[in-house]
Amino acid sequence: NSKGFDLRDPLELAQIEQARAPWADHRWQGGPLLAADRDGADRETIDQVNPARPNDRVGQVGYASPQDIDAALDAAGPWQDAPERRAEVLRRAADLYEEHYGELFALIGREAGKSMFDAVAELREAVDFLRYYANFATADAPRGVFTCISPWNFPLAIFTGQIAAALAAGNGVLAKPAETTSLIAWRATQLLHDAGVPRHALQLLPGEGRVVGTALSSDARVSGVCFTGSLPTAQAINRAMAENLSPDAPLIAETGGLNAMIVDSTALPEQAVRDILASSFQSAGQRCSALRVLYVQQDVEDKILEMLHGAMDELRMGDPWHLETDVGPVISSAAKQGIEDHIAKARSDGRILHRLKTPGRGHYVAPVTIRVNGVEDIEKEIFGPVLHVARFDASDLDRVLGAVNASGYGLTFGLHTRIDDRVQHVDSRLNVGNLYVNRNQIGAIVGSQPFGGEGLSGTGPKAGGPHYVPRFRAAQISRKPS
Ligand code: NAD
Ligand code: ALA
Repeated sequence: NSKGFDLRDPLELAQIEQARAPWADHRWQGGPLLAADRDGADRETIDQVNPARPNDRVGQVGYASPQDIDAALDAAGPWQDAPERRAEVLRRAADLYEEHYGELFALIGREAGKSMFDAVAELREAVDFLRYYANFATADAPRGVFTCISPWNFPLAIFTGQIAAALAAGNGVLAKPAETTSLIAWRATQLLHDAGVPRHALQLLPGEGRVVGTALSSDARVSGVCFTGSLPTAQAINRAMAENLSPDAPLIAETGGLNAMIVDSTALPEQAVRDILASSFQSAGQRCSALRVLYVQQDVEDKILEMLHGAMDELRMGDPWHLETDVGPVISSAAKQGIEDHIAKARSDGRILHRLKTPGRGHYVAPVTIRVNGVEDIEKEIFGPVLHVARFDASDLDRVLGAVNASGYGLTFGLHTRIDDRVQHVDSRLNVGNLYVNRNQIGAIVGSQPFGGEGLSGTGPKAGGPHYVPRFRAAQISRKPS
């Protein structure tokens, strides 16, 4: 895995500061990257803004026009170079990503509003995906052309991971990045082209999901769709594919979750609180893996909540450009409004347990804890720094596990206990993709911790695992999730 950076080392910090400084006020100009040159006169241009400082113009992006989409679909085709060459190019792209870390950190901080800590992890994961999937480049038949549709919350890592897997298997790719992080995707695509990915094998089509995403997942020239994002979007894509694509065309989808954690009375409180904090509020809660519903055993609830609320008071909210920031903004004013509506409803019901103060301008949502009976009280994934808290009694454990399974989602689950049998018990009853024991429940390591969900949270196979790239090939090795 990539070495990344050690943010505790003053020399490495100084190196990062120096590398990203030239990009602090830069304005990027991005747009579609197609196999065929087009003048782009028919494109709409959108301003990209910094969610921490909405008056910071990060740049502009041109959205793909219907003519761009048609030209890209016509020109797209598999990447027919030998597998060794494909692997070499993907590894070269990983090196280029690492060389351009200053610019990429600046873009991730300013366009996606991610903290420096998150930006370092994001670049490492992207580089790991490139190098890991390069190992799976073989001569087996590709499917043809994949549409890769990615979310904004891992604008470099997931964007790159989807593309790298499809390319490693020899497919061509039409990449549709999230609207709010189109410039990161545009710069990454340039680096992939610079590394040697042919332009017909990788084309970038920024634009609105309902327009560009729909067009690219409902055209018979496409042989499969790889999607990461919300459940309703995955369902819309599934319907569009069923109506327009060959029945063999796979939808490889990773979606959201209503992720829970159990802290029982044998847990180490300091460790549990540290892990609850990271799982709920790191990345401002904008991770598919983030903890949404905490179940605390009632004997220890008062103590855990007192410690948790004290620790929340120490969180530093602010501009992700500053290294001391723990919690940055959410991605947009619309996202902020949706989360605040949910909090306002809880407030009117008298269910707020604790809330921080929101700093000045920018799309900030102050971390909050909200009382609930359990996961059944939450209608949908709230994608922000909102932690719901429920209590349980030891005799209730199977009821809790049943409620979590009944949500239909199954992405991550956290368990804090020192009872080994309880770990086995929970593991055998829960339908979740990733179970984290006595640690935080976010993050995954490419190659050693494959990541993906069960049920409504994903179709499998897990990203970063050995079964992922084979799913992009016509000759399948396994349909089983890893
Ligand atoms: P989203 O579903 O709104 O958008 C994801 C992508 O789909 C974007 O590129 C968007 O433009 C596109 N899109 C929107 N409508 C479309 C349509 N009708 N047809 C085709 N494409 C369309 O999700 P988001 O807000 O960008 O991301 C957050 C969501 O992603 C959360 O639900 C989170 O849990 C999930 N997520 C899951 C994982 C995972 O690995 N399971 C990882 C990261 C994020
Ligand atoms: N692995 C990613 C996370 O931890 C998706 O949130």
